[in-house]
Amino acid sequence: MFSKLLSFAALSFFSLLLANPATSHSVSFNEADYDPSHVVTKDFLVLGGGASGTYAAVRLKDHDQSIVLIERNNRLGGHTRTYIDPETGGTSDIGVLIYQNFTTTINFFKRFDIPLSTFVGNGPFESKYADFATGEAMPNYTLPDFLTGFKKYFETLTQYPYLEYGWNLTYPVPDDLLMPFGDYVTKYGLEDAALMIFEYAQSQGNILDQPTIYVAKYFGVSNGDAFVNGYLSTARRNNSELYSKALESLGSDVLLRSHILSLKRSDSGVRAVVSTPTGNKLIKAKKLVSSIPPKLSHLTGWDLTNKELQLFGQFNNSAYWTALVTDTGLDNNITYINVQPNAVLNIPRLPEGYVVSPTGSIKDVFHIYYGSPSSLPEHQIRKAMIKDVNVVQKLQGVSMRKPKFLILEQHVPFQCAVTPELIRERFYEKLYSLQGKTSTFWTGAAWHTHDSAMLWRFTEGLLPTFLGQ
Ligand SMILES: Cc1cc2nc3c(=O)[nH]c(=O)nc-3n(C[C@H](O)[C@H](O)[C@H](O)COP(=O)(O)OP(=O)(O)OC[C@H]3O[C@@H](n4cnc5c(N)ncnc54)[C@H](O)[C@@H]3O)c2cc1C
Ligand SMILES: *[C@@H]1O[C@H](CO)[C@@H](O)[C@H](O)[C@H]1NC(C)=O
Ligand SMILES: *[C@@H]1O[C@H](CO)[C@@H](O)[C@H](O)[C@H]1NC(C)=O
Ligand SMILES: *[C@@H]1O[C@H](CO)[C@@H](O)[C@H](O)[C@H]1NC(C)=O
Ligand SMILES: *[C@@H]1O[C@H](CO)[C@@H](O)[C@H](O)[C@H]1NC(C)=O
Ligand SMILES: *[C@@H]1O[C@H](CO)[C@@H](O)[C@H](O)[C@H]1NC(C)=O
Ligand SMILES: *[C@@H]1O[C@H](CO)[C@@H](O)[C@H](O)[C@H]1NC(C)=O
Repeated sequence: MFSKLLSFAALSFFSLLLANPATSHSVSFNEADYDPSHVVTKDFLVLGGGASGTYAAVRLKDHDQSIVLIERNNRLGGHTRTYIDPETGGTSDIGVLIYQNFTTTINFFKRFDIPLSTFVGNGPFESKYADFATGEAMPNYTLPDFLTGFKKYFETLTQYPYLEYGWNLTYPVPDDLLMPFGDYVTKYGLEDAALMIFEYAQSQGNILDQPTIYVAKYFGVSNGDAFVNGYLSTARRNNSELYSKALESLGSDVLLRSHILSLKRSDSGVRAVVSTPTGNKLIKAKKLVSSIPPKLSHLTGWDLTNKELQLFGQFNNSAYWTALVTDTGLDNNITYINVQPNAVLNIPRLPEGYVVSPTGSIKDVFHIYYGSPSSLPEHQIRKAMIKDVNVVQKLQGVSMRKPKFLILEQHVPFQCAVTPELIRERFYEKLYSLQGKTSTFWTGAAWHTHDSAMLWRFTEGLLPTFLGQ
């Protein structure tokens, strides 16, 4: 937040105070201060063990590089998370569900011996519609012909194939890509597609307000192919298996429940003091690959350059939550979708719940998906989710009761985005010019889009850059 309030000069000064705990926590970069078992020397320090960081770590090792992967959680996977029912062993993916069928996707799962199959849904469920804000049922609502709408929408995007591979834009950026998506929908007559694009591009915030380019990157032409040819899912419907097998394979090169306390970078290498469950470690690496969201709030302890401070300070982010609840009394065969009769194109204004849906795989356990254009406190989300369940209980004529939360997962920050003005002024060209500066390399959703398969392909394409080839 402070980045928006202060001038750039004040910001740089501030960062010296905030972003460098070396002064306040007196972490030492002096090797003599560490027991040799607490000094780690590697070719690469990879930061963040979600989709992009795990992929980068595995593939760098394939290229005979030594690595250490730092992940703050107690598991790899990031937005991929599988709930396993303690009684039945049944699984439900509450984060990443499906994958686009790219060669990189097939190869990544194959190396860990995890079978894929064509995604066939969690159902079959009957869909019902209701306005979650008012609790009003919409018994006569029928979805527009969104498949025809999708076809028309994807056709408008085929002229921008480069959107599928990152932010290598052409300048000037076409006005169509920078206009609010709501205007784009009107201009190209995509009204029939809009609500379902909102559902597929969940978590982007209020998509009609979004610059079209973010929608086009998140739900672009390759998704159009997937609609025709099918998405993939893990045949065992257990997406976390990929990450637990990757963890097994990377072994002691992964430091879980760890984070950077202080980081110093130069053209000749990086040194980091990292907090780990077994004490602080000094990491010396030739290069850093960061896959974490480049929000200033995530980069405390970093020796950020003025350019990094300026660019990262311009990111806003959406927020997204998913939960599994039980003890609801709800029908296991019906999905409730939030549709607002008085909203533009019936698209709910966020913050709001998107859907309350059975998992299908675990009896009496339901998914709730909730989105907001910006972060909100967790207690507010919990309350709003209970309200959504109560709405559905009332519509189904079951007694209103408080559901039991099995899990509530925060995906915050989610999409990092900047204004169309900044994109026009070559924000992403400036961002990409950071690649390789002070031995630091970048990947992850903020550098492309939130899609696992697209991020694996993107990270694969960056390997020669990381390796200096
Ligand atoms: C609910 C949900 C459903 C989705 N469904 C799909 C889907 O069906 N198909 C699909 O392709 N995509 C889906 N996505 C999008 C996809 O998961 C993301 O695009 C992808 O996970 C982004 O990968 P990433 O590597 O950029 O970030 P992440 O996967 O978030 O990885 C970043 C990692 O860095 C760690 N980290 C963050 N900060 C620090 C720090 N300071 N120090 C150490 N570690 C840190 C985090 O804990 C995390 O593990 C979904 C996302 C969500 C939230
Ligand atoms: C993935 O796509 C290839 C063609 O590119 C196809 O042969 C294969 O069957 C697809 N995989 C699945 C599981 O659908
Ligand atoms: C839904 O349609 C039925 C049958 O046409 C009609 O009787 C009913 O009033 C409608 N309900 C609403 C809420 O519009
Ligand atoms: C970026 O696009 C230009 C053409 O628009 C192309 O020549 C160049 O190879 C692309 N670079 C990358 C990294 O894709
Ligand atoms: C799912 O994967 C996890 C992690 O690898 C594993 O512990 C669990 O047994 C798997 N469950 C099923 C049903 O495949
Ligand atoms: C739910 O649907 C399944 C098949 O799709 C059916 O066997 C079952 O009876 C249904 N249950 C209820 C409560 O309607
Ligand atoms: C971020 O969001 C705030 C308020 O929601 C807005 O005022 C500001 O312009 C946004 N900044 C960017 C870079 O999008």
